[in-house]
Amino acid sequence: MKNWTTSVGALAVMTLAIVPRLAAAQSIEEKVELCAACHGDKGVPIDKDTPVISGQTQGYLYFQLRDYKSGARKDDRMAPVAQMLERPDMLALAEYFSKQPWPALGQPQAPADVAARAQRTNTAVACTGCHQGEYQGEGTQPRLAGQWKDYLLRTMLDFRNRKRGNNPGMSDLMLATPEDELAPMAEYLAGR
Ligand code: HEC
Ligand code: HEC
Repeated sequence: MKNWTTSVGALAVMTLAIVPRLAAAQSIEEKVELCAACHGDKGVPIDKDTPVISGQTQGYLYFQLRDYKSGARKDDRMAPVAQMLERPDMLALAEYFSKQPWPALGQPQAPADVAARAQRTNTAVACTGCHQGEYQGEGTQPRLAGQWKDYLLRTMLDFRNRKRGNNPGMSDLMLATPEDELAPMAEYLAGR
């Protein structure tokens, strides 16, 4: 717990350091470098609460930047960053990151009983109907395969209690899923 608090504190300091540099950055390359301070220069984020964006789907990336800026998706670390971006920057950053390779985070494959629980949830809610086969995502539907387990679980819980309010449809689906099925789902997705 202590480490987690420290890391959130460190990220807040990082936001303070980066926002003025982002305001001064002219080119997309300079902006990308500032994103890398948290999201990782080889695509591997600095901590397990910061999502992979390299290789994420383009439409989804753009929607998130737009929603952080409007306040529809709230986060103390990303909101000040998004405030510094205009629509053309967001579109260019979404395009840039969507073309990078998805990094291998080396998370273990879920054991068979955990995978079976996750597959039952998918049968009930049809996650792959939107997130596509193998959870690779497409367009505005995010890739989930190989994302950090801790981030996946937190954001699914955030949808469930509507702390993440930018997609009411995903909140309804998470509320339709028993809460104790979300950890097996996160473990299964992370290991794919
Ligand atoms: C200070 C650290 C920090 C910096 C700098 C930063 N991010 Fe983030 N980013 C985060 C964290 C933490 C989250 C998760 C926030 C949440 O849960 O809503 C996030 C979330 C995101 C998401 C949502 C991903 C998803 O899977 O939903 C996108 C897109 C994103 N960041 C893009 C960027 C871009 C582009 C830049 C550079 C212009 C950038 N970020 C700079 C920390 C940072
Ligand atoms: C009707 C289509 C649909 C279904 C079914 C669906 N999702 Fe989603 N999901 C979405 C969309 C669209 C988003 C992006 C929301 C946004 O823009 O913030 C999303 C976002 C997510 C995210 C956030 C990803 C990130 O990087 O932050 C997770 C995790 C997720 N879904 C998990 C699931 C799981 C698990 C299931 C099945 C139990 C499921 N979804 C079913 C459409 C769907």
